[in-house]
Order: sequence, then structure tokens, then C-alpha cells
Amino acid sequence: MANKTLKSTTFVIFGAGGDLSTRKILPAIYKLVESKKLSKFCIIGLARTDRKFNDIIKEAKKHIKTSKKDQAKAKKIWEKIEQRSTYLSLDFNTESGYQQLKETIHKLESRYNKTKNRLFYLATLPTQYQNITKYLTKYQIATKSSIKFSRIAYEKPFGTDQITAKKINKCINKVFHEKLVYRIDHYLGKELVSNMALLRFTNRVLEPLWSNKHIEKVDIVMTEKLDIGKRGNFYDNYGALKDVVQNHLLQLVALTAMEQPKKLEAKYIRDQKVKVLQKTKIQSMQLGQYNKFTKVKGVKKNSKTDTFAALKLTINNSRWRGVPFNIKTGKALNKKETYIDIKFKHIPCLLQSCPRETNHLRINIKDPNITLKINSKLPGTKNQVIPISLKFSENLHFDQNSPKAYENLIEQIIQGDQSAFVRSDEVEASWKIIDAAIKKHKGKLLTYKKGSTGPKVPK
Ligand SMILES: NC(=O)c1ccc[n+]([C@@H]2O[C@H](COP(=O)([O-])OP(=O)(O)OC[C@H]3O[C@@H](n4cnc5c(N)ncnc54)[C@H](OP(=O)(O)O)[C@@H]3O)[C@@H](O)[C@H]2O)c1
Repeated sequence: MANKTLKSTTFVIFGAGGDLSTRKILPAIYKLVESKKLSKFCIIGLARTDRKFNDIIKEAKKHIKTSKKDQAKAKKIWEKIEQRSTYLSLDFNTESGYQQLKETIHKLESRYNKTKNRLFYLATLPTQYQNITKYLTKYQIATKSSIKFSRIAYEKPFGTDQITAKKINKCINKVFHEKLVYRIDHYLGKELVSNMALLRFTNRVLEPLWSNKHIEKVDIVMTEKLDIGKRGNFYDNYGALKDVVQNHLLQLVALTAMEQPKKLEAKYIRDQKVKVLQKTKIQSMQLGQYNKFTKVKGVKKNSKTDTFAALKLTINNSRWRGVPFNIKTGKALNKKETYIDIKFKHIPCLLQSCPRETNHLRINIKDPNITLKINSKLPGTKNQVIPISLKFSENLHFDQNSPKAYENLIEQIIQGDQSAFVRSDEVEASWKIIDAAIKKHKGKLLTYKKGSTGPKVPK
């Protein structure tokens, strides 16, 4: 992304003391200040606990690596952030705190951001989204204006099912125009994910092959070595299906399968993604839970929450009919991997010993790279073929300091670009798929050992 100076912004972070804020949001703001994209700003951090903003900065600092020679520069940046920030302890669900919030914002903005552009970032639970949205407009903290912006960002998961997502959307759309709403799925901020549309629609060697005529199957995998850690309470109410498949993985399906948008702009991309989601059905599903999950603090002793999910999806349209989209995700597995693997069909072969392998295109999102596996002659032999890999590695070709997902996303919100954010109808369509899958799922919960490859999933 071009090094563009961003408009001055007031960040109002709900859940400022939490894991997401200290690990991702504040470090992203730090990076935007460091790169000089963001110079005029202020931050109001909100959460329950009585603390100072400096306590939050202390946590956030741990997530910015600084070499010895850059320490003085880093210190200055953190001092600038601290000087322009304040913390307020309030209960998001209690109306009385919002008048104080309004006054606090005014005070800080009179010194640091006279434009009053505001970004409200809800890094908290979806059960609080409706109250926060309501009170922000009731107290005229988020206002409609053509000269300044009030934009509101909601973290994922957005709701717990289609009904709750619809309720939250209804509440939001009563007070905020959809153009001001940014539903975050941080996967859409990752370089190779945002590259997906460009990769498909700017390459003659790919797009004509992108259909059931040439593709045998698509595998989309996102596995983690990490277990639930300290998030037992939260995770036990969601599980892998709702925490990962509903958002990240269905978004990857939509980006892989969508038709070409009229233009590479938010409206057209989102129109195409939602069409795919509306045609997506779950053919089969296996859910699993790792051993000792029920011993984690915050998890119910008899919990049936899934920490692993494997699904076979079908997309009922002329491009994809007959191509399985296999999806897998899980916690506490033996490998951390995130990729999309496109397996092409066999071609009629003229050789005596035909290659067993077909072509594969793997878009590796974790260590960003793209690999195309093709067949080539084994040197010195007569017409014998072996698979070889053509690899593009992002870190080798581009600046290794290219922006991380949250930095990209915050920058895009300030610029008013919604293409990497999820629209209300997309969220509702993906919950519909998950709700139907849960209703249909009669299979038992498979168990697997921590650190293993996961439960045995029937083919
Ligand atoms: N962590 C991640 O990597 C990650 C990634 C993607 C999405 N998300 C989503 O982001 C949201 C936040 O996640 P998190 O991991 O940061 O959670 P967290 O560590 O539990 O933090 C939650 C924050 O919200 C505050 N809070 C909760 N209820 C409140 C209330 N009624 N009034 C005022 N403050 C309240 C907490 O206050 P105290 O600090 O005072 O306790 C804390 O600061 C969740 O929806 C999660 O699914 C998280």
C-alpha cells in the first residue's frame, strides 16, 4: 500500500485492556505512527478495570520488537502515544458512563484532533455490540456529518448464530449507515488473502482453469499448535465451527470461488462473495475435541464444544458443481498451517508411465508464498516425469516489514475502504450455513490427543 498520510483520527477502543487491543490494535497504531502515516491522533481506551493507559502500553510494548539501535526512536513513539491517550473505566452496558465518555473525547480532541474524525473499535464481546452502538448514538458521540467521519468497527465473531447476527445488524443499521460499518475478519487483512482476487483475475494462466472443468478439489486448512490457553470461558461458548469456520474459512471459500466482480471495489467484491455463500451447502461434517480440553479454566466439565472441525462443502452453481471444498481447522494440533490448495484434474497422458501427481496450486497464508506444482522431465531418463515446484515467496521478493493484517485494516478504515470488511448480508449468509450444519450434525464428538494430527476423519 502506498505510503499515504492518514487523516487525523480519534481512536475509541472498547476493550482496551484485553488481549486483542494490547497484542494487535495498539501495536498496529504504533506501526502507523512509526511509518509516519499517522501523525495527528488521540486514543481513548475503555474497559472495566481501574487502571492507567500506561498499564496498557506496558503490555502492548511486548508485542513490538525493537532492535538496539531503534530503541530511542521506539521510546519517543510510545511517549507520543501515551501523551495523546487516556483511559476510562466504565461498564459498556451501563448508560451512565457514556456522558463521561463524551466529555473525555471532547477534552482530548480539543488538544490533539480538532477534525473530530472518530473510529470506534469494539474489541469486546458480541453480546455488548447492541448496547454500545445504541449509547454511542444516543449520547451523540458518534454523529452523522459530511465533514468529519464516525466509523465503527466490530470484531469477529459477529453474533452467535444467524438470529443474533440479524439482531445486531438491525440495531446497527438503525443508527449507522452500512458505509460506516467495518465488520472485521482479520484474515482479510493478510497480504495473500487480499491478493486472492488479483491473483485470480489478472492471470491468464489461472482464471480460465478456475472451474469444475479443470479443478478436482479445493482444500482450505487452518490448524494451530496452540491450545485454548486462557480463553476457556470465551471459547467454550463458541468452538472451532463458530470461532473460525463461520468467518475466516468461509471468507476464504468465498474469495476462492467468487465470480469476477465488475470492479475490484468493496461493493462489487462483496456482491460476488455473498452470492457464493448463498449457494454453499455442507455435505458432511466431523467435529472433535482435544483431550484435557474440559480441564481448562473456564470450560465446563462436561463441555461438548468442538476444538476441531472438518467439513466437506459444495457450491451449487455452474462453475463449482461437483467440486468438493474440504475445510479443516483445529486447536492443539501438531502443526500450524494456513493454506488454500487447489488440486487440478488429470490430463489425458500420452506417455507410457503417466505422472501420478496432478498440478497443485498452493496459496500458503502463514508463511506467505504461492507454489505451483507441475510435472517435468526427470533429467537423463526417457520420458519419465517428476513433480517440481515453482515457488514465489513474499518475504524474498518484498520488504519484510510489509504491513501486518491489523495495520492494513486500520489504515483501510481510516481511508474509508470497505473491500476487506464483511457486509451484513455476508455475515448472515455464513451464519445460515453454520446453523444448518449444527442442526444436521448427528455425529458424535471425536476425540484427539493434544499435539496430534487430529481425530481420524472418515474419507
Ligand atoms: N484476542 C484475539 O487474538 C482476537 C482475535 C480476533 C478477534 N477477537 C475478538 O475480539 C474481542 C475481544 O477479544 P479479547 O481476546 O481481547 O478479549 P479479552 O482479553 O477478554 O478482553 C476483553 C476486554 O473487554 C473488556 N470488557 C469486557 N466486558 C466489559 C464490560 N461489560 N464493560 C467494560 N469492559 C468490558 C475487558 O475489560 P478488563 O480489561 O477491565 O477486564 C477487556 O479489556 C472478542 O470478541 C474476540 O472474539 C480476539
